[in-house]
Amino acid sequence: MMQDKINQYTAEISAFEPRSAAETEAFRIKFLGTKGIIKDLFDEFKAVSPEEKRVLGKVLNDFKKLAEEKYQIVKEQFESGDAGADQNLDLSLPGEGFELGSRHPLSLVRREIVEIFKKLGFTVAEGPEIEDDWHNFSALNFPEEHPARDMQDTFFINKDAVNGDIALRTHTSSVQVRMMENGKPPFRAIMPGRVYRNEAISARAHCFFHQVEGLYVDENVSFADLKQTLFYFVQEMYGEGTKVRFRPSYFPFTEPSAEMDISCTICGGTGCPMCKGSGWVEILGCGMVDPNVLENCGIDSQKYTGFAFGMGIERITNLKYEIKDLRLFSENDVRFLKQFQSEVI
Ligand code: DAH
Repeated sequence: MMQDKINQYTAEISAFEPRSAAETEAFRIKFLGTKGIIKDLFDEFKAVSPEEKRVLGKVLNDFKKLAEEKYQIVKEQFESGDAGADQNLDLSLPGEGFELGSRHPLSLVRREIVEIFKKLGFTVAEGPEIEDDWHNFSALNFPEEHPARDMQDTFFINKDAVNGDIALRTHTSSVQVRMMENGKPPFRAIMPGRVYRNEAISARAHCFFHQVEGLYVDENVSFADLKQTLFYFVQEMYGEGTKVRFRPSYFPFTEPSAEMDISCTICGGTGCPMCKGSGWVEILGCGMVDPNVLENCGIDSQKYTGFAFGMGIERITNLKYEIKDLRLFSENDVRFLKQFQSEVI
């Protein structure tokens, strides 16, 4: 008997959706009022047998809780003005505006770099940020005792007897190796990604940053191809008339190796703090892929030659937007980020 009534009321309470504060108040009086249903049920409860009491006691208490909770919920709805036909809704008020976010400057510049190289037929490839010694160092012709393998530079994760050291990659050159190991020439790709180095964080250094690696391997690829490709990139990125120069350099994985400077994008070459008065700024490392690297990746170095290059996206961005502190890129300060509104979404 009592159980039936409770079931029926439970259904009624669950379905209850008041349209006004007045209906909510009527609900309270009906169920929770001093002469309400719950009061009646508790009176009725006094008369039931002790066996039934054991079961019904809990049922009744749960029911009371349900009614109270429901009342709290619907009451709050009207207090916060969430619903109800009788509210003071002013439909003529303007809607709430919302601000569009903006692309991160590094994403914008990475995209720009990708678009430029796509026009030359380069595809885009990626590789893992956690690398083994082979892909990050050995296959790239790093001698065993090369200082770049030292603990200061590399974040080691663990030592593995089979695969050697496992570390966060220190450069995107590791992706070159993966690409060549897993395919057949010709290769013409750029490989953007995040890299890690064990450096103290300052305006000019960070423990993580971003690079774009480039690789072009085919028959008869020459240093002239490398120069023309990078020259084209610079004209597209920084405008026609930007000058380039190559200085001899050393990287274990290229021979010969060079670093490329461009005329300072900030002062145009007359000298400023960005170029330390020299009129030139370095933007990337490059060279002809060392035959050892080709052979390490299973490519016939008698038949194929190639060039490679690697640039830091932060550096390319700094020179475009005159940003002087690397830390701005990772601090998520909205005042900084929202200056980079772009048409591309
Ligand atoms: N991996 C070099 C670095 O992180 C950059 C680099 C230099 C990449 C020359 C290359 C290259 O592919 O040919 O400093």
